[in-house]
Amino acid sequence: MEDIIKRIEELKKEKDAVILAHYYTDGQVQAVADYVGDSYYLSKVATEVPQKVILFCGVSFMGESAKILNPEKMVIMPDTYADCPMAHMADVEKIKEIRESYEDVAVVCYINSTAEIKAASDVCVTSSNAVKIVNALPDHNIYFIPDGNLGRYTAKMIPDKNFIFNDGFCHVHTSIKPEELKKAKELHPEALVLAHPECTWDVLELADYIGSTSGIIDFAVKSDAKAFIICTEMGILYELKLKNPEKKYYSVGHRQFCPNMKRITTEKVLEQLEKLSNTVELNEELYSKANKALDRMLALAE
Ligand code: 13P
Ligand code: SF4
Repeated sequence: MEDIIKRIEELKKEKDAVILAHYYTDGQVQAVADYVGDSYYLSKVATEVPQKVILFCGVSFMGESAKILNPEKMVIMPDTYADCPMAHMADVEKIKEIRESYEDVAVVCYINSTAEIKAASDVCVTSSNAVKIVNALPDHNIYFIPDGNLGRYTAKMIPDKNFIFNDGFCHVHTSIKPEELKKAKELHPEALVLAHPECTWDVLELADYIGSTSGIIDFAVKSDAKAFIICTEMGILYELKLKNPEKKYYSVGHRQFCPNMKRITTEKVLEQLEKLSNTVELNEELYSKANKALDRMLALAE
C-alpha cells in the first residue's frame, strides 16, 4: 500500500493532477485524495482547482458534472463502470410533456442525473442546497427529478409550492426500513439518528437530523451526543471516525453500501494516473445546455 501511495503522489505532480473523492468511496481512496466532500462541495472545488487533470473518485454523474463545469480540463474516472442507477431514472420525453402541461414550471434536477437529463432541466440541486434553491425560484410548479424521496423531502420544507414528483430512487437509501431503524433506536436509545434525504419519508420522520453527507458529518462533530445511528452509505464512517474517533456510530441493517462507489480502488487510481485513458467526453451541445443548469445551481447556492 505504501508503494501505491508514494507512486500516486509522484504521478500527481508529474501529470499536474488533483484527486477529488466522495465520502462514499473506500477509506483508502479518501486517504489519497486532495479534496473529499459531498456532491456540492466537489462540483464547486472542481471549478476552483488550478491543475490540468481532475481525477474524480466517484460515480459517472460526478465526473460528468466536473467536465461540464470545466470543459477545458481533462477529467479522468478510475472506473468507467461506476455509475449511479438513479442518475438514469428520469425521462427527457416526460420533461417535455410536463413543460407542455404547466405554464409556470421549473424542472429541478438533482445532480445525481445524466448530462442529457441536466441539459433538459432549468436548474440543478444537491441534497445540501435543494431547499434553498427551490425556495429562490420564481416558479410555482416544480417538477423534481430524478429522486422522488429528495423531491418529497424538499416539498415538505416548502409547502407553498406545487411539486410534481418522479419515481426515481436510490437503492442504498431505500434499503433502510423504518421498522429496522426503530429496532436500532431501541438498542441504542442514547444515539441520535442522522439521515440523508434520499431515505424514504417514514425513515426521515424518525431522524434527529436530515442533511447531505457533509451536513451529517458537521452535525456529528458539533453535537454533544456521543452516539449516532447513520442512515446513509457507510463510506461516510471514514471521515466521521477521523473527526470524532471517540464517538460511536451504528448502521441500520447491512445494506448501506453503494456497490458503484466501492468500485473505486487505489490500484485503479494509480493505473489511471499512469494512463490518463478513462477521459470523460461529452458532446458540445450537451455541454452548454447542462452547464446552464449547473451554473445556475452554483449561483443560487452562494
Ligand atoms: P451528497 O451530495 O449528500 O454527498 O450525496 C451524494 C449521493 O450520491 C447520495 O447518495
Ligand atoms: Fe447513487 Fe445511491 Fe450510490 Fe448515491 S448511494 S451514488 S444515489 S446509488
